[in-house]
Amino acid sequence: MILAFPGNGSLAARLGGPVHPVHVHQFPDGESLVRIEADVQGACVDVVCTLDRPDPKLFPLVVALRTLRELGAARIRLVAPYLCYMRQDRRFHPGEGVSAPVLASMLGPLVDGLVTVDPHLHRITSLDTLWPRPVVVHAAPALAAWVAEHVRDPLFIGPDEESAQWVGAVAHLAGAPSTVLRKERRGDRDVDVSLPDLDRWPGRTPVLVDDIASTARTLAAAAAQLRRLGTPPPACVVVHALFAEGAAEALVEAGVGLVASTNTVIAPTSVIDIAPLLAQALAPPPEGV
Ligand code: R5P
Repeated sequence: MILAFPGNGSLAARLGGPVHPVHVHQFPDGESLVRIEADVQGACVDVVCTLDRPDPKLFPLVVALRTLRELGAARIRLVAPYLCYMRQDRRFHPGEGVSAPVLASMLGPLVDGLVTVDPHLHRITSLDTLWPRPVVVHAAPALAAWVAEHVRDPLFIGPDEESAQWVGAVAHLAGAPSTVLRKERRGDRDVDVSLPDLDRWPGRTPVLVDDIASTARTLAAAAAQLRRLGTPPPACVVVHALFAEGAAEALVEAGVGLVASTNTVIAPTSVIDIAPLLAQALAPPPEGV
């Protein structure tokens, strides 16, 4: 049985099972009331709730997960196509909270498993240390297929070292070369990216690949460097398009061409459907396996 949080219904409907809504009523004072109408007694329940703009979603999610247990669900899996707070995986400055393990310690004990798409694993190298039975879906095949259809002779470019894993995977599947740049971030919207050396790949169209676009300043800074070298407008493919205010404008200003992202987060660019790969990960293994 699939339970969909508000805003997750259309993705949930393509995951292959009966879908029931989790109702979240917002009281005028900002508190919320969660209601589950489905009969979940003895059921294996997948709760679909993508966690972009997470803070208002998290308390209703805690309530829903606890309620499912009280109502007798036999197994509860959280399906969070975008798993928030994974970038805060370290105390970068004195006194900062390390959010990634805090989130896991808050939700992990309430579920029997987690399914997510390309979490930002960097200093934390595996979800196993944080979450019960995590399953990671990789969007690379979907990104590579989109590029194959829309860009001729791509050169895949990662804007920073952290993107190397995603760029490498997509380039490998697309059978095209890749390179990774260096980034320096001085603030939320203040980013510098090194000048790429493209001499080895004349005539190719640059395709920037990243797991997350938030302010999009990382992609914009990389695109601006490419345009300085006289490349054609670079395409951008992103797994999770969080798109904070001003992100789209920053990309346009930097001279980006096509932009595509998956529908782990609903954005104007989410034209790459992750549902088939997600459904595959959720399906029970065939008999006898
Ligand atoms: C961090 O390394 C991530 O992979 C992204 O590069 C980063 O979150 C993008 O942030 P923004 O879009 O705000 O530059």
